[in-house]
Amino acid sequence: MTLIGPSMMCADMGRLLKDMESLNRGGVDYYHFDIMDGTFVPNFAMSPDMLRTLRPYTDRPFDIHLMVEEPERYIELFVEAGADWISVHAETKVHLQRALQMIRDSGLKAGVALNPSTPLNCLEYVLDVTDYVCLMTVNPGFAGQKFIPSTYRKISDLKKMIKRSGEDVRIQVDGNISFETIPGVLDRGADLLVCGTSCLFKPNTDLELAALELRGFLEAKPAQAAVREG
Ligand code: DX5
Ligand code: ZN
Repeated sequence: MTLIGPSMMCADMGRLLKDMESLNRGGVDYYHFDIMDGTFVPNFAMSPDMLRTLRPYTDRPFDIHLMVEEPERYIELFVEAGADWISVHAETKVHLQRALQMIRDSGLKAGVALNPSTPLNCLEYVLDVTDYVCLMTVNPGFAGQKFIPSTYRKISDLKKMIKRSGEDVRIQVDGNISFETIPGVLDRGADLLVCGTSCLFKPNTDLELAALELRGFLEAKPAQAAVREG
């Protein structure tokens, strides 16, 4: 089943809880929190305290996307703040296998996040300790960017790699996931959507209705018989 994950960096920071309550009513599946350090990406976004604030108001998974250098330093902090899934970027100064094992040993789902240009071969020896791969479909750091077309082929290639490995790893896509790009990413094997300004957080939009509309769009889309190439 395709999961809808609102990207909470796109919410109204002046009414974060109200936005989440609307999204809860709209039936979203999990919440995606972008964490940025101003070094790995030239921006800042959310924080552990925002997780703590929101944690009591939903039982849906909190997915933490660490766009930070040396992410191992922060795993315990986000576990304690209420995370359920944590992804770390393979491009950072990280001992990737150790970081993923650390996340799993904390009882969470472990993810590897990859920038658009990063080859898939860095995953070769960690798929056995990986629950999901977050493929950035824009360059990380900011909402409102354009989908990078070459990432379509990357999704297909990753799907084939996972199939060959025999491991149970899901594909998450993050960046300009919209009504235009969703069919193509689903057809190639992605099923965890990070939904930001491109499909949920549009100006003057009722978030509950936006979530229901997106669910209707997904349900109306015929399942692709085979994974699409390229
Ligand atoms: C990039 C961010 C954005 C955001 C989604 O680092 O992760 O992709 O969540 O927002 P849109 O839909 O505007 O790309
Ligand atoms: Zn993200």
